[in-house]
Amino acid sequence: MLLGWRKIRAGIGLGLGASSALAELRSGVDDLRERGLDRTGAPGLARWAGEMPPLRAEQRALASQIALGPLHNCRGSAGAGVLTAVLLVVVVGLGCTQAVTGQQSDRVGPVDEQGRRPISVGKVIKKRQIAPVMSVAHADWLVRPERDVQEQPDRVVKKLQIPEGGTVVDLGAGVGYFTWRLAKAVGDEGKVIAVDIQPGMIDRLRETLEERGVTNVEPVLGSEENPNLPEDAVDLVLVVDVYHELQQPEQTMEYVRRSLKPDGRLVVIEYRKEDPNIPIHPLHKMTVDEVRAELEPMGFEFEELKSFLPTQHIIIFKRRI
Ligand SMILES: C[S@@+](CC[C@H](N)C(=O)[O-])C[C@H]1O[C@@H](n2cnc3c(N)ncnc32)[C@H](O)[C@@H]1O
Repeated sequence: MLLGWRKIRAGIGLGLGASSALAELRSGVDDLRERGLDRTGAPGLARWAGEMPPLRAEQRALASQIALGPLHNCRGSAGAGVLTAVLLVVVVGLGCTQAVTGQQSDRVGPVDEQGRRPISVGKVIKKRQIAPVMSVAHADWLVRPERDVQEQPDRVVKKLQIPEGGTVVDLGAGVGYFTWRLAKAVGDEGKVIAVDIQPGMIDRLRETLEERGVTNVEPVLGSEENPNLPEDAVDLVLVVDVYHELQQPEQTMEYVRRSLKPDGRLVVIEYRKEDPNIPIHPLHKMTVDEVRAELEPMGFEFEELKSFLPTQHIIIFKRRI
């Protein structure tokens, strides 16, 4: 497997003439194509490229055109620079394919002073721009009259077949649009843990619960990373119009994963980004592929896609043990 990478390295290495270098490069790429990508090869190659002398300005421009931001400082001899750029297209291209298909989870990397792993190290996630958190000032939008028709919350809750007496989490509960419905579904013996990171939303949630006389909901103030959930205790976590705005999705979803019972489910509902006619800003929409490509490497197993809503998809996962 390493043969392909070695040939590529040799192909663009110093001391080879341009034509033999290209031949070696092609042969290396062919080897990789034939045998499949050796994941360990790409980072090694990037490290190696980093040890080469500086690229010329036009080569740097080429590199930037092909969105090689993190590799701009990569160095190469004048003769090898273009080849390096060409090769990096191959490397980055292969890496991106893996990210989209979720084959490679980059769950290692440096942590910051607070011990958090910056989201930029996640190959899977860095391709998506994370939306800003919806502010309390816009909370009334969550109870706009047309929402019941668009999002059909009662039908959604019914279709999820929530176990009576179960424990359900409403992650990013907002003003409680889904929370009180979940509370009804689990019944008096059950419980809903309604998490939000904004105290103003928690206040609005409490008002909703009081107005509706709901008593089996525990409002919880979470942080951007940690939703403060009990471990191995939850039957279902519902995440409606929230995942796209999680600022630390990997960390948050790891806590979510741990909170689920072994047979627990995660239900993500997002506006369909596949449909450009849905009048929601693209940052606030996600495709099924995007959701799956991010969540599967985080320890969730795709179970089912429900597509009965006019503008959203419902994507259901199981906890991977
Ligand atoms: C668009 S609102 C959706 C609210 C609710 N799910 C609904 O469907 O009405 C997004 C909510 O997620 C909350 N949120 C954002 N990031 C969060 C996080 N990391 N943990 C918990 N809540 C979060 C926001 O404060 C906001 O109330």
